[in-house]
Amino acid sequence: MEQFRLSAALLFACAWAGTCMAGPKSIIPAPVSMEPREGQATITASTVIIAPKALGLQARQLQEMLKPATGYDLAIRETSDVPSIIRLSLVRDLEDLGDEGYKLDIAPKGVVIRATTPTGIFYGIQSLRQLLPAEIASPRTVSGVAWSLPQVSITDQPRFSWRAFMLDEGRHFKGEKEVKKLLDQMAELKMNVFHWHLTDDQGWRIEIKKYPKLTSIGSSRTDTQIGGWNSPKRSGEPHAGFYTQEQIRDIVAYAQARQITIIPEIGMPGHACAAIAAYPELGTTKNKIEVMTRFGKAIDTYDPSAEIVYTMLSGILDEVVALFPSKIIHIGGDEVRFNQWKKSEAVKELMKKEKLSTMADVQIYFTNRMADIVEEKGRNIMGWNEILGDDLHGLLGKDQTAKAATLDPNTIVHFWKGNPTLAKRAIRNGHKIVNSWHSFTYLDYGYGSISLHKAYDFDPVFGGLTPEEERQIIGTGCQMWGEWIPTVERMEAQIYPRLAAYAEVGWTQKENKDFASFKQRMKSQLKRWDLQGIGYAKDQVSMMSAQDFFNHVKIDSWNPGKTPKDWTPVEFSTGGAIAEAGTYEVVFLYRKGLHALEISEVGLLEDGKEIASDKHAGFSGGKLSGIVYKLKLPKAKPGASYTLRARIKGSGGTDSSGEIKIRAGE
Ligand code: ACM
Repeated sequence: MEQFRLSAALLFACAWAGTCMAGPKSIIPAPVSMEPREGQATITASTVIIAPKALGLQARQLQEMLKPATGYDLAIRETSDVPSIIRLSLVRDLEDLGDEGYKLDIAPKGVVIRATTPTGIFYGIQSLRQLLPAEIASPRTVSGVAWSLPQVSITDQPRFSWRAFMLDEGRHFKGEKEVKKLLDQMAELKMNVFHWHLTDDQGWRIEIKKYPKLTSIGSSRTDTQIGGWNSPKRSGEPHAGFYTQEQIRDIVAYAQARQITIIPEIGMPGHACAAIAAYPELGTTKNKIEVMTRFGKAIDTYDPSAEIVYTMLSGILDEVVALFPSKIIHIGGDEVRFNQWKKSEAVKELMKKEKLSTMADVQIYFTNRMADIVEEKGRNIMGWNEILGDDLHGLLGKDQTAKAATLDPNTIVHFWKGNPTLAKRAIRNGHKIVNSWHSFTYLDYGYGSISLHKAYDFDPVFGGLTPEEERQIIGTGCQMWGEWIPTVERMEAQIYPRLAAYAEVGWTQKENKDFASFKQRMKSQLKRWDLQGIGYAKDQVSMMSAQDFFNHVKIDSWNPGKTPKDWTPVEFSTGGAIAEAGTYEVVFLYRKGLHALEISEVGLLEDGKEIASDKHAGFSGGKLSGIVYKLKLPKAKPGASYTLRARIKGSGGTDSSGEIKIRAGE
């Protein structure tokens, strides 16, 4: 009783302080189903974690996760008769939830997480954490918080088995600490594939003992292009870095403990200049080159006609597969510049000998040889969708897809560019697909081209596929390309908050996706990130975009002829959308024009008489702010005519046009 009174008082205190933001509305990615009930459970210093030996790791992870903020060092036991418990339990009867699903039940007696695998238990623990007050993310003990959990019953499993985040360290090396920090965030968001882009034209980042020059030469460059693709500017500073095999083993184990598979990407035959700088015999031109200091078009490519290339790549991959237990090795394959191949007599000979008629066929020949080499090592390859032989960059000329169907069907195609027809053809040719369509999933793109909402709305499944074909789309990835992100601060601002949206793209069932709910749940997520020192782009969650209003209905428009220079009131139609009592959101959504529209007041007129108004400054241009006006109709008058009267003006000019949209409800 004493304990109950104390926690009730604390709860009251933290409600006043505006903290304790948690509950079923705080889980990201949203689970399959949640049944909230009245009441709650509370974790105290005497709570015991009960787990069988097989879940020892997960029990310790739960203990470690709770320790910093609560200050509690909870006991772990295999059985217990104390009432306050968190029970982790492996069961057989949840097979329908697959390898990653779980059930989480919170009742006053305690918490039970059940799953058929330790992975499911791990994900149940992540949800449990998110149900606690956000202060649980604090690295230091927080006093005055009741560690209470809402009573709820959750059933959960992912939509896709491949939920990836890619980090490009070929361009800018970030190091072990940052990688682990990213892995922590991925795990909390139930993402399970860390696609590690370790080699590129500008750097080789993985120690290969058989070929030491890959790192002694290939891991450093003398200078770096800054300021964008065609910029002549350079940083004026050298850049270097690589992972030793010992560090890689440690990171692989760190990821494994968090249910994350690392897929290494060793790019070939393009994006290979750092390796060619180390070993010129790998290149097509055989010229001695330097590790590239600018980004974009590469100056050489692996020589597909030289046996030494396959021998050396096989030797490199022997060490790669010894380090990474993943069944898949990513071999890149993107953006091969064919000009060196076209000029090479040796490549011409190869084409004659192997009856290859186009450069695409040469690449497919190369890729199939690598697929064989990797398959002999017990693994399969994956590559960007150029490996299908399509002319994604306008470099191939005619007949480009002549032999595309001959690509080894065990190869996973990583779709990033082109159009869905190409991906659908690959699916029909038997390939599995990971959908990382660049215009929705590239984290190096600014928020102007991929807003949080656009990231959230990405659906990795294309239309027009049979259910069986859809299952060949095994998931999705989001990609942090590194050309223009030399610092961790820049990187985090690009990744966060979008990573949370991509986590929900990969995990949450399509019918449960709802951006308004996501934004609401992000409030707890941002608080957790603040406490963990994650530098997310601060204004991107609250910022409005046109996509936020796609469910609103257009009722009228403004255009240059209707926009006053001053605040003269202008009347707009409601298009019959207001006929019943309720609250309505009226939105002024800019579409085009050089100048924005400013709004200061919107009123609701009933038969020409103002009965409600919302006065606040709104700005509708390239940037949107305050453009939602809330109008309440307390009681509808039968047969009345409802119109809007807005005080608006052009912002410096009256040439803009846009839509007036409406939606009923808050
Ligand atoms: C890529 O963006 N070059 C896969």
